[in-house]
Amino acid sequence: MLNISTIIGCGAYLPERIVTNNELAARVDTTDEWIRERSGITQRHVAAENEQTSDLATKAARQALERADLSAEQLDCIVVATTTPDHTFPATAARIQANLGAIKAFAFDVQAVCSGFVYALAMADNFIRLGQAKNVLVIGAETMSRLLDWQDRGTCFLFGDGAGSVVLQASADSNKNQGILSTHLFSDGRHYDWLYTDNSLGGPQSRGTIHMQGREIFKSAVDKIGQAVEKALDHNQLKATDIDWFVPHQANARIIKGVCDRFSIPEEKMVVTIAEHANTSAASIPLALEKAVSDGRIQKGNLVLIEAMGGGLTWGSALIRW
Ligand code: UT7
Repeated sequence: MLNISTIIGCGAYLPERIVTNNELAARVDTTDEWIRERSGITQRHVAAENEQTSDLATKAARQALERADLSAEQLDCIVVATTTPDHTFPATAARIQANLGAIKAFAFDVQAVCSGFVYALAMADNFIRLGQAKNVLVIGAETMSRLLDWQDRGTCFLFGDGAGSVVLQASADSNKNQGILSTHLFSDGRHYDWLYTDNSLGGPQSRGTIHMQGREIFKSAVDKIGQAVEKALDHNQLKATDIDWFVPHQANARIIKGVCDRFSIPEEKMVVTIAEHANTSAASIPLALEKAVSDGRIQKGNLVLIEAMGGGLTWGSALIRW
């Protein structure tokens, strides 16, 4: 018998330091007004010099475990979505495992840039469905600030640092209309150069900085995300009007609005954190989920749609009955 995965706890952590648009405008040729209008961003959190991705992730994970009422030793698996690992190897997940004392878990990283959390959730869900794991910690954690050229006005305003986490638990498949209903993943490597860092293996041992063809990504975003959302709804024989909460990857407020308009999802069902967090890549969805759960918006039984698109290109969606 197959299992289903339910989310039993969410956690979040944002670094203390906040950089406002006005602070950025003092360094590069931009304005608060331009950034707000084009992206919806007003500020971003930036990790301290001695804070690594694993530090942010560990804090988010501890909160999720506490809320799930689960000890780290009860974890069977840790999946970390990150594009900013502490080191090239080992996996940042290994460090988080040690920090938590999750000695019975296997732990690894997933790299799908901004879609990383959807990819990680899909893998975790599959481990649970097949009975390979009962309790799985899924984390999206990023220190995107380390990949930014702070003199490049086209990219430096867009990204932020943070970590979000969920605990998944297996339960018997007695009620199919519960937990993670479906995940759908997509990639198109022909657009590799739309969003990339300018380092390469064999090249200088630095992480490189972000280069982005923002307009290209922007133009295809609503179509690609729309495809993933349609798949999710069709697969479950559901309609957009069935969705209680839409928790998208937070890349640009205009992209989020475009997706909502396409599916006639009303604004009050959108969970939007981009103004305060900016684009935290793989961390943006679990950060938004945590916010909407802790402020009481997402309730048991609600139908929650998540989606993301990012470098690769990669994109995907998941439908969750909370
Ligand atoms: O998670 C996936 C990762 N990335 C994304 O999803 C990003 C998707 N793309 C976007 O969100 C948008 O393309 C941006 C917000 C990045 C840019 O908005 P846009 O409306 O596409 O602007 P644009 O790149 O077409 O630039 C318009 C103008 C340009 O000037 P000209 O060529 O029209 O004279 C830019 O040079 O705005 C200029 N510009 C700026 N002006 C003030 C670019 N960056 C800035 C800036 N401040 N920071």
